[in-house]
Amino acid sequence: MSTVVITGAARGQGAAHAAALADAGYALVLADRMDDAGQRVAAGLRERGADARYYSLDVGDEGGWSALAAQLEDEAQPVVGLVNNAGILRYGRIADTDSATWLLHDRVNALGAFLGIRALAPLMREGGSIVNVSSTAALVGTAGYAAYSASKAAVIALTRVAAIEYAPSVRVNAICPGGVDTPMNDDEPVGGSSTGAPLGRRARPEEISPLVRYLVSDASSFVTGSVLTIDGGLTAT
Ligand SMILES: NC(=O)c1ccc[n+]([C@@H]2O[C@H](COP(=O)([O-])OP(=O)(O)OC[C@H]3O[C@@H](n4cnc5c(N)ncnc54)[C@H](O)[C@@H]3O)[C@@H](O)[C@H]2O)c1
Repeated sequence: MSTVVITGAARGQGAAHAAALADAGYALVLADRMDDAGQRVAAGLRERGADARYYSLDVGDEGGWSALAAQLEDEAQPVVGLVNNAGILRYGRIADTDSATWLLHDRVNALGAFLGIRALAPLMREGGSIVNVSSTAALVGTAGYAAYSASKAAVIALTRVAAIEYAPSVRVNAICPGGVDTPMNDDEPVGGSSTGAPLGRRARPEEISPLVRYLVSDASSFVTGSVLTIDGGLTAT
């Protein structure tokens, strides 16, 4: 069965994308560092008949990615997709952001996607699709998001380079959700910046998943190097 690896799948959008991809018939490797939650999500998908397993991974750990790639190679798993979804957000105005916080965003949000591409694209011998989760925070400025926004802008730049380097066999695209109702936003004022968007609310995670499913599938066979917003109109204003 064709396997898709999805990071940050223990909760939030990653868990929703995993369910949508399971419904589409892919075998799933759910990678995260929240082991108990990740195991629960994988078990829930298996109860629904999916081929899903949890893999403990810190996306900023090069050795962890190598070990995952080696395991998939050993199992002769045909990997057809990678969703680089794991991410972190620590609010802070520039004046209050220290170097460690900046580098933490780089490590998880940007380096994590880079390591994932480098480790798994070579396994996509019969073609594949990589979806990098960026954010509208990379496209518009919002106070308190400097480290996060910069790391997500790096994801867009990485996407464009990877789309060129891995073409034509592997497609690489980025998505930019606006506000999505997940635990990541627990500290944000209700609605956050989404209240100013035409749709005036955050997305439910399940509203982002169809775009991920489309980009992973052959339905998007001519789409690569693209940066797709899915933001309730936030960036139209
Ligand atoms: N929630 C939003 O409003 C929003 C908007 C745009 C983009 N995004 C992006 O969407 C993606 C999913 O976020 P979410 O909203 O579901 O948030 P979330 O906090 O609910 O989920 C993030 C997941 O990433 C995992 N993770 C964090 N660091 C990790 C690491 N080092 N290694 C492995 N896993 C790690 C977490 O354990 C968690 O399961 C993130 O990349 C986020 O930046 C979120």
